[in-house]
Amino acid sequence: MSKEINVKRIGVFTSGGDAPGMNAAIRAVVRTGSFHDLHIYGIECGYEGMINGQIRRLDTKDVSNIIHRGGTILRTARSKEFHTKEGRSSAYEHLQAHDIDGLVAIGGNGTFTGANIFSKEYDIPIIGVPGTIDNDLFGTDYTIGFDTAVNTAIEAVDRIRDTADSHSRLFFVEVMGRDAGYIALTAGIGSGSGKIFIPEIHTSMDSLFSSLKKAIKRKKLFSLMIVAEGNKSGGAQQLADQVNAEFEDYEPRVTIIGHLQRGGSPTAMDRVLASRLGFQAVEGLLVGKKNAMVGIVNNKVKFTPFKDAITKEKAMDKDLLRMAEILAL
Ligand code: F6P
Repeated sequence: MSKEINVKRIGVFTSGGDAPGMNAAIRAVVRTGSFHDLHIYGIECGYEGMINGQIRRLDTKDVSNIIHRGGTILRTARSKEFHTKEGRSSAYEHLQAHDIDGLVAIGGNGTFTGANIFSKEYDIPIIGVPGTIDNDLFGTDYTIGFDTAVNTAIEAVDRIRDTADSHSRLFFVEVMGRDAGYIALTAGIGSGSGKIFIPEIHTSMDSLFSSLKKAIKRKKLFSLMIVAEGNKSGGAQQLADQVNAEFEDYEPRVTIIGHLQRGGSPTAMDRVLASRLGFQAVEGLLVGKKNAMVGIVNNKVKFTPFKDAITKEKAMDKDLLRMAEILAL
């Protein structure tokens, strides 16, 4: 650490969809802050709690026994009021009342969009920690919660595989990812599934139909298809409906894994990632970093300005989809 600056009281909060590993990040923020003799304040329910003054001191004991727990001990919310100037002004007043002079925001795109606006309106340094199962943030290879969500999805698909195989059935399994296909792509490859439908790259119904026809010829009706919820040509149910209308041989079944993917104990990878990022967020504030998201790129810590983290698109590796297709033949 080089240049010291005057941050003495840091507020930490989680916002948007919860993600397994957020607690490990909170723990890292509190423990790193204590190490540097800072006062750490937990803000409950994200921006909503900031607006309502739900702020309390956290010390090292408050974060004991949470590294393995899913969810977030600080709770979370998606705040409409923070979109308004009045909401943000009330949030700032509550921070001032506690003399909070730095913030660590743990969340995703919406969280950092709010942080970007807030940091421009009020002179308070903010560091973002990427916490979302979607892994859709530019400036970090992985977001906290992604690995756990993928493992949960793969475990679910493994179970579906047993029954799909036994009945020689076609299944469409829908995973989360409103705008991003990272969970679908990774879970699809990791579960050895057939076609993978993601928002970023279009997979045509023609290509699906043609592989289903080939499967009929080979008398192999058992198949698993993975669909991201944000797939542009429809979710799992819509795709299954189209197959139903086209084929007599198939009676596809649909499973939507949904919020199961958001819960559960974080994997080792998520715990370590969250610990590294929470630690770096505090040390970053201490050396004058601000209004940026801390991430890990090629195993190196990297600070990316909020405006880039929220507007730049993280490139999807198209070769992986092609590889998945080949491996599923
Ligand atoms: O952003 C994370 C995420 O889990 C998305 O994958 C999903 O579309 C969304 O949150 C669901 O949000 P909610 O819990 O508000 O229904």
